[in-house]
Amino acid sequence: MNEKKTMLSGIQPSGDLHLGNYLGPMRHWPGMIETYDCFFFMADLHTITVRQDPAQLRKRTLTQIAQYIASGLDPEKCTLFVQSHVPAHAQLGWVLNCYTMFGELSRMTQFKDKASKHSENINAGLFTYPVLMAADILIYQPDYVPVGEDQRQHVEICRDIAERFNGIYGDVLRVPEPYIAKVGARIMSLNAPETKMSKSLPEGCVFLMDKPEDIMRKFKRAVTDSDTERCVRYAPGEKPGVSNLVQIYAAATGKSFEEIESEFAGQGYGKFKPAVGEAVVETLRPIREETERLLADKAYLESVYRAGAEKAGCVAEKTLRKVYKKLGFLAR
Ligand code: TYM
Repeated sequence: MNEKKTMLSGIQPSGDLHLGNYLGPMRHWPGMIETYDCFFFMADLHTITVRQDPAQLRKRTLTQIAQYIASGLDPEKCTLFVQSHVPAHAQLGWVLNCYTMFGELSRMTQFKDKASKHSENINAGLFTYPVLMAADILIYQPDYVPVGEDQRQHVEICRDIAERFNGIYGDVLRVPEPYIAKVGARIMSLNAPETKMSKSLPEGCVFLMDKPEDIMRKFKRAVTDSDTERCVRYAPGEKPGVSNLVQIYAAATGKSFEEIESEFAGQGYGKFKPAVGEAVVETLRPIREETERLLADKAYLESVYRAGAEKAGCVAEKTLRKVYKKLGFLAR
């Protein structure tokens, strides 16, 4: 019997991976593969809620697989796959649509946010997106879902959907817990620290494949705060810019906020900003180099995602059959 707990997470290949994706959930993943049965995927089905360039999407999906491996996910020890290669996600997604309420989807902050940004394309997929995400999760019956803070609400609705389903059909779906780290779960934009770091604000966003000189430039230009004390201190309410840098430095080096405050005591921001930049350069350097090496070996990457789809497909099919049976669908 398999006693290992299960863990699952995914990232949309809708843009290049950035420091928020890495310091939020991704950096924790490699440490989990020894202890948990892990599934990590490229959430390509989710990307088309917003228009994508097909060639770019294909390229980014492959790059993302390489980045997963380069950041320490050994494909021999966990399952890496592309969401669209496992049809059971969309199949369970349809089922769960019928167990999710219009009202609860209307309350999703990310829907409201994206709908206002893409007012010319408020499609049904954008609205039901959290249901597909619930299917992504529930189909593997994970115990934990490691994500950044912005995905908490989606994991919560996934739990609600699972509980509703179980309330009708018995104990069918495992109700997962979100796994959200204390440090790094909400990395803010470097030039607008009141906004989350995201690819849509590229100047305030550090991408995993950025060259060291670009990373250093972005950190040197990072917005700090116009307070008079000019000391390095973690106080997000008062000093959002500096606190974001402290958080990034803490996540990149493993140092505590107190250690960082005393390291830079009396030094102002002039030394601190390049120090954070250097810590990030050194954190990302091996990932970038290994990604570049892996991207030159397309046959290997192909073998990884094919094997991953095979393994993930078996687990997902099993859950789907169980759900179909409970619903009363005639077995094939
Ligand atoms: P996505 O692709 O927007 O982001 C991927 C992961 O990165 C985290 N993240 C951040 N963490 C800290 N600071 C930031 N600035 C930051 N920006 C992004 C996100 O919280 C997320 O963990 N719907 C999901 C993808 C998804 C998924 C799933 C995740 C689809 N199905 C099932 C887990 C389980 C999304 O759009 O994340």
